[in-house]
Amino acid sequence: MRFLVLGSMNIDNTFSVNHIVREGETISSNGCSRSAGGKGANQAASLAKAGAEVFFAGKCGDDGRWILSLLESYGVDTSLSIIGEESTGAAMIQVDSSGQNSIVLYAGGNRQWREDEALFVLSHFGKGDVIVLQNEVNLLSFIMEKAKERGMLIAFNPSPFDDEIADLPLSYVDWFFLNEIEGECLTGENRFPLILDEMRRLYSAASVVLTCGKSGAYAMHEGNVYYQEIVDYPVVDTTGAGDTFSGYFLSSIYNNGKSVEDSLFYASKASGIAVSRNGAMDAIPFSSEVM
Ligand code: RIB
Repeated sequence: MRFLVLGSMNIDNTFSVNHIVREGETISSNGCSRSAGGKGANQAASLAKAGAEVFFAGKCGDDGRWILSLLESYGVDTSLSIIGEESTGAAMIQVDSSGQNSIVLYAGGNRQWREDEALFVLSHFGKGDVIVLQNEVNLLSFIMEKAKERGMLIAFNPSPFDDEIADLPLSYVDWFFLNEIEGECLTGENRFPLILDEMRRLYSAASVVLTCGKSGAYAMHEGNVYYQEIVDYPVVDTTGAGDTFSGYFLSSIYNNGKSVEDSLFYASKASGIAVSRNGAMDAIPFSSEVM
């Protein structure tokens, strides 16, 4: 099974701070670094590090070539990515002393996709392939519709959540990847099991993975609900934890043919390792480390 991530790539500018800056406040950081990120690129890296065959289609400026090279070094095929006129997406990330973060995005090339470009990317894929989407690129409705027409499975992480998500053809989604906040935004419910109950009512054909931070993760698949407690590591930086989780989960279940229970465990362990390290894409472990 092949994976296509048609998604975002960002240059992450990360500031290590004692606390997330408050309105009107100016603070000094303890350190600052520049690294590769973007939810789409992170998920592609996670899938590849987990051992899956993955294609990443991103749109960036000349200043983003190094991110594509980094993805290639992990085994991601980036030949369908586009270097355009607009500069590469960027993120300003604050990570506080407990490892929690706060992110401001600049979309750059991520929101410059044209329909003909997306169609060209999709023309290389069909039945049996999985498309992995997040909410950091434009044309999501169009991409979901065309991917469905081609018989692809759709995995969607509605992050960052915004009002436009309500207008997407979410009934086409085969796998939702949600944290509790996204789950609440989609369903109006704020905790397990009510989020899953409402997801079942709204999108009865879909499977759902719900990550609940320290409280572990749930999966709802083919009428059954599964639970995995957190695989605990010291928290240094939570950036990209959800991206690591979804990449590992999808690779485990579709590429390695593992059960939902096993896939939840590998994904929890991979994201546990990721949060014990600095950065987003760099922090995602290889499968040899997770095993
Ligand atoms: O999920 C983490 C990612 O969100 C960061 O890498 C940042 O670029 C934003 O897209």
